[in-house]
Amino acid sequence: MSKKISDDLNTFNQLAKYLIDSSKKMGVSKYIEAEKVLTNFNIELNENEISDKKLVEYLKKIISYTPKTSTNLFFNQLFGGIDSKAMLGDLLAVILNNSMSTYKIAGPMILIEKEIIKNVCKIINYPSNSGGTIPTGGSMSNFMSMVLARDKKIKSIKHKGISDKLICYTSDNSHYSISKNASFTGIGKDNVRYINTNHFGEMITKDLEIAIKKDIKNGHVPFLINATMGTTVMGAIDPLNDISSICQKYSLWMHVDGAYGGATIFSKKYNNLNKGIEKSDSFCFNAHKTLGAPLSSSIFVVREKNHLHYSFQNEAEYLYQTDSDEYNLGKSSFECGRRNNSLKFWTLWKSIGTEGLSYKIDHNYYLANIAYDYVKNNTNYTLFSKKNSLSICFNYKDYDPIQICTNLYKNNILMVGYGECNGNVFIRMVCVNRENDKEDILNFFKYLENFADNKN
Ligand SMILES: Cc1ncc(COP(=O)(O)O)c(C=O)c1O
Repeated sequence: MSKKISDDLNTFNQLAKYLIDSSKKMGVSKYIEAEKVLTNFNIELNENEISDKKLVEYLKKIISYTPKTSTNLFFNQLFGGIDSKAMLGDLLAVILNNSMSTYKIAGPMILIEKEIIKNVCKIINYPSNSGGTIPTGGSMSNFMSMVLARDKKIKSIKHKGISDKLICYTSDNSHYSISKNASFTGIGKDNVRYINTNHFGEMITKDLEIAIKKDIKNGHVPFLINATMGTTVMGAIDPLNDISSICQKYSLWMHVDGAYGGATIFSKKYNNLNKGIEKSDSFCFNAHKTLGAPLSSSIFVVREKNHLHYSFQNEAEYLYQTDSDEYNLGKSSFECGRRNNSLKFWTLWKSIGTEGLSYKIDHNYYLANIAYDYVKNNTNYTLFSKKNSLSICFNYKDYDPIQICTNLYKNNILMVGYGECNGNVFIRMVCVNRENDKEDILNFFKYLENFADNKN
């Protein structure tokens, strides 16, 4: 390794220390208007080189104003905190810099990815001919499921393109990637049916079946139901067993988008939330959301791996020169140069075992249920969430949730977002930072109430 790399690794250590120390002092981050960043932070790119000293100086300033998603004040989006072993794996992946397309250029990393897939399939009771891949994120996992479902329904589409009106079903609380993916796969955004949800954001399967029957009557071709395990806003879980019965009845592909809540498969205590997942055709979860792997870490598994190979394999003589398809993972994935997103999840899983993953998930639910109880037992709050949801949705007194969230952010008190479900707008507190404890959850409410009552 060159001296330059080892010098820059030393610089990295210095910057990492600076980041950790400043996180303790600075909250999530001081607010600065986006328009001022370019000039205030020397971000503009110039013709001439700068010294290493100047570069470090600029980086420090940029770091200090970049939101610290690992602090105990970040409850905004569906990730938070970082697991140090996963971080270690990811840093190594950067230095090793392999592409996961062939065994020849990734070596043992291929076996690491396969081991993760094998174990996830086993945990959800998929059969021995199951398989999977590690795509760039949940949106891509959902995209791949739509391609598989499409190609299974009409095999010739892969070569001839779409001529039938294929229809996909998903809840009106599902992730927006479903709509985008319908456009990318040639299905068309207008051919996504958004099924009503109940008060908690769970799909109403009676309405689902009515919609399918109507489409069949009109000569359309239903092909996919996307069930969500942990909706983006409410953290709701669609009724997986009922959806699987409907899939079987109408020969539809069942994908479970567990990007947010799917890692619950590792929990022994909350296993009942996963019932029905074993009957799905494909499933994904994001280890970067609830398990602390750095972004991104999405695991996508398929009940029958042949489908993955059929849809995603393409010959390329310049690439596949040694070893069998079993080890040349480019034949069952989307990208050619695919980043190694396996190592970080492996270092995490290997170091703490499946027991440790179970504990992490249980701790998330423990924290979420503390927040749930706090809101439920306090008459100043209106609660919208169900028990055992990782998102606690509520309003405080009659304060405007949008205004409170924005002001908390701009005043660097804490970071939390708002959401909407069935016409109600509320504060959405996301409890996925396993480094937090009971006190951090109670502090959240203390800071929120203090700010709302005195300064908002
Ligand atoms: C339910 C659900 N599905 C999919 C995604 C997309 O995942 P990613 O951000 O990794 O693309 C999200 C992200 O929040 C999500 O909540």
